[in-house]
Amino acid sequence: MEKSILDYETLALDEKERALVIIDQTKLPGRTELIHLKTQEEIWDAIRKLKVRGAPAIGDAAAIGMYLAALNIDEAEEAAFLQRLHEAKEYLDSSRPTAVNLMWATARMERAAQGAKGQGVAKIREVLRLEALRIKQEDIDICEKIGEYGLTLVKKGDGLLTHCNAGQLATAKYGTATAPMYLGQKRGYGFKVFCDETRPLLQGARLTAYELQSAGLDVTLICDNMASSVMKNGWVQAVFVGCDRVAANGDAANKIGTSGVAILAKHYGIPFYVCAPTSTIDFDRKTGADIPIEERAPEEVTEMWYRERMAPAGVKVYNPAFDVTDASIITAIVTEHGIARAPYGESLQAIREKSGR
Ligand code: MRU
Repeated sequence: MEKSILDYETLALDEKERALVIIDQTKLPGRTELIHLKTQEEIWDAIRKLKVRGAPAIGDAAAIGMYLAALNIDEAEEAAFLQRLHEAKEYLDSSRPTAVNLMWATARMERAAQGAKGQGVAKIREVLRLEALRIKQEDIDICEKIGEYGLTLVKKGDGLLTHCNAGQLATAKYGTATAPMYLGQKRGYGFKVFCDETRPLLQGARLTAYELQSAGLDVTLICDNMASSVMKNGWVQAVFVGCDRVAANGDAANKIGTSGVAILAKHYGIPFYVCAPTSTIDFDRKTGADIPIEERAPEEVTEMWYRERMAPAGVKVYNPAFDVTDASIITAIVTEHGIARAPYGESLQAIREKSGR
């Protein structure tokens, strides 16, 4: 039987090759190409160019990247080794600014290394290997739990809408916003999923529609400007999206266009759910205004995907990669430790306590 995209690992550590192996997501759905990334520059570039993308997946990738950096740091002396490891962390952190999972994972790796201080460089490397693998496995377990909690929010036959790709390709497995969809499919829920194409980089069309269809779900692709129409038709009973960073007050940054979907959902009285591992919650940012928003190249809007340029040469382009949905229009935030509802200042703190962070 032909392999489905879901049979591939989004990312993996190849110990023999000393490489991070990823599916090059810029080539999907046309070609499934696995690439081996060995140097810090290759890993940085793959994250920056969205060859590997999605908040949890870039956290997992950067954790493996830190381990690979540790293997390549040629320092027998611990303090110098740890200093070079710190530089590797800062370098990987600079690849993308919005998804906090990236810095969360590299900080966790650095803490693990510091915890093994005094035991020698070889031991620190081994600790880092185990920590990177643990981060990836935890991501899988977390997505499964988000799936279980998310499924309690919907009923059989519901129409669901999602934006961007918070699917298996954005995590080590199952996805966050897609986890309730995959679980519901296993349990015979018969969901009908609407998938926004997600301009300008088309993660919804290229990735979400692809992976859901490969899994046999009933999926309908729509342009971003069609969401209002399908909602008005009564075809959507719930919206599930992922996120890149949640502020302490519940404001949530996710792929550009998400806040518009939330505003539409509010208008039509449709619940809007944000799926977030606790590693995506940044308690150091009070509100969404404190979340750094990545801006990307104008060519993504004017040229990419077109046979020829589709905008006048020299026109000004604004291309923010993310927007912030106000906590006030988020029905609930689904985490691996339960479902948080307003007031989020309190409910997210309760989730934090459960997570032991
Ligand atoms: O720019 P991307 O493709 O990395 O953006 C991804 C998203 O916005 C996802 O919705 C988010 O990272 C959650 S992934 C589980």
